Amino acid sequence: MDNLSAEHRTFPPSEAFAAAANVRAEGYDRAAADPEAFWAEQARRLTWATPFSTVLDWSDAPHARWFADGTLNVAVNCVDRHVESGHGDQVAIHWEGEPGDSRDLTYADLLREVSKAANALTSLGLQAGDRVAIYLPMIPEAIVSMLACARLGLAHSVIFGGFSAEALRTRIADASARVVITSDGQYRRGTPAPLKAAVDEAVAAADSPVEHVVVVRRTGTEVAWSDKDVWWHELVDQQSEQHTPEAFPAEQPLFILYTSGTTGKPKGILHTSGGYLTQASWTHHAVFDHKPDTDVYWCTADIGWVTGHSYIVYGPLANRVTQVVYEGTPNTPHEGRHWEIIDKYGVTIYYTAPTLIRTFMKWGADIPAKYDLSSLRVLGSVGEPINPEAWMWYREVIGKNHCPIVDTWWQTETGAIMIAPLPGVTAAKPGSAMRPLPGISATIVNDDGVPVGHGQGGYLVVDQPWPSMLRTIWGDDERFRDTYWARFAAQGYYFAGDGAKYDDDGALWLLGRVDDVMNVSGHRISTTEVESALVSHPAVAEAAVVGASDPMTGQGIVAFVILRASATGGDGADGEALIKELRGHVAKEIGPIARPRQIMVVPELPKTRSGKIMRRLLRDVAENRDLGDVTTLQDSSVMNLISSGLSAGS
Ligand code: WTA
Repeated sequence: MDNLSAEHRTFPPSEAFAAAANVRAEGYDRAAADPEAFWAEQARRLTWATPFSTVLDWSDAPHARWFADGTLNVAVNCVDRHVESGHGDQVAIHWEGEPGDSRDLTYADLLREVSKAANALTSLGLQAGDRVAIYLPMIPEAIVSMLACARLGLAHSVIFGGFSAEALRTRIADASARVVITSDGQYRRGTPAPLKAAVDEAVAAADSPVEHVVVVRRTGTEVAWSDKDVWWHELVDQQSEQHTPEAFPAEQPLFILYTSGTTGKPKGILHTSGGYLTQASWTHHAVFDHKPDTDVYWCTADIGWVTGHSYIVYGPLANRVTQVVYEGTPNTPHEGRHWEIIDKYGVTIYYTAPTLIRTFMKWGADIPAKYDLSSLRVLGSVGEPINPEAWMWYREVIGKNHCPIVDTWWQTETGAIMIAPLPGVTAAKPGSAMRPLPGISATIVNDDGVPVGHGQGGYLVVDQPWPSMLRTIWGDDERFRDTYWARFAAQGYYFAGDGAKYDDDGALWLLGRVDDVMNVSGHRISTTEVESALVSHPAVAEAAVVGASDPMTGQGIVAFVILRASATGGDGADGEALIKELRGHVAKEIGPIARPRQIMVVPELPKTRSGKIMRRLLRDVAENRDLGDVTTLQDSSVMNLISSGLSAGS
């Protein structure tokens, strides 16, 4: 295990990189002197229909309003203005399908497609302020749909294609989405898998708010059809290519994105337009040093996650990016697929997740060695702490020792990057996100909300409002206040839910979640969500779930279950088959990403006297550690029972 305090290697940018960088060291001082003036300047990188005269209104804290009297159209900023400035022929998207098909869309193409899709959505009766659910694979129509919603002032709610029908149903209901956009199927590891079937199940409920389902043909998979359904190609293709955009207030809702919290019910994180786009766009420009005329950018996230929203769709397109969008998995049809794509398109900026970097390490350095990666000049990481070995491998094997690595810390809630090196400024340390960006004020505090010093750890908080901050939790403002603002209410800090520490030089290291949210391959899943999925199975009486550290996925889901008497055969036959069934059950209830790595059947669960499950102890068991202090346990013999049962069983 790396000793984080002992990391003294630093990697400054080359002189040539620093000299040509979009943002220099003085950016920090300028922003610190007057953060609002700094953000106003960044907001003016966008095109406003009505210029704003106020920057931040924090009078109703913790509800921020940024640039509130300005109006703009987000889609115009991402598409139309690039065509108007003479870049209609620039490729916006090099789309690469999993089976090997590909398609280039220029900004002129994108404008036509988005205009037609906007006309189509209008023809379905949608009006500004309505919600649209998007449940699509990584195909161009996904991006076109998001931009068409933005163009009309509709709020989209993108639901990851790996989520189950049940997860889809609750998200559609919570947002009261009037329309769902989906596809017949999606390619997954070389084979078409159905997608619309999950929508059919979700929409079948009598009280479903959904009036229309628009279906993109992708795989040719056979689908059931109802009178709510309409094919994308039949609806959209016939529309006019002209669409006159309307300007909306800066605080117009742009999207709702559901993310796991500490209870079973996902939180609908609400983002609005002007402030969100300002920070998504500026951070993409600053952190990736993006140059619109020469760079080819690739972010490997799925648009079902916030990274796809901010760093495939809104930030990059606002900056007139030329980017790769890849539909499939990294090992289809072979383990060199990403390197082959970088080679094919001459990718210069590559942004991915530590879990994938560790997978590439496992597959071996000889695979990327077969491709020309010399076009690369900036590498990014997001989703979980990147361990120093993975950082070094990324730098040496992929970046050939010359590409700055930007480890970017942020959250669905923060909307855009908050803490990261600046590639032309920072002497980065392997595994550290280093320091907050210009214009952002974040710090580490102890239990009492007092900032800690160098060499010390505590809770990460953001102590000043920022443009792309979440505005509320959709339909549950009280939960918004409780979750993020109650913990350090006296100080008025935003509590991120992450632990962090400063090293002796003051560099910031993220240490993972301090709440009951797990991070599996960079995806947030709450322990309660998995627990409620488990107890919804007739064989399970009680369940406790923990995230145990995992060399590949960061954390792995480990569940402890107590079976109902009726489910235990007594001869051990309930073992493997039932465990397999339970793992499948969770995958069906939430989605395959939530399938537990391990399920252990136990006779009891360790609880405090007040009945709270002691997850810390279960984590010790799951990680094969000696048990620490068990004196607060209601019955300390429970742990002996669990441990002996497990060693006997394994
Ligand atoms: C974790 C993803 C360490 C963190 C953009 C955070 C990270 C949660 C990093 C948000 C990083 C994200 N270093 N931890 N560079 N990036 N995290 O909402 O625990 O899916 O709270 O947003 O991921 O996950 P979310």
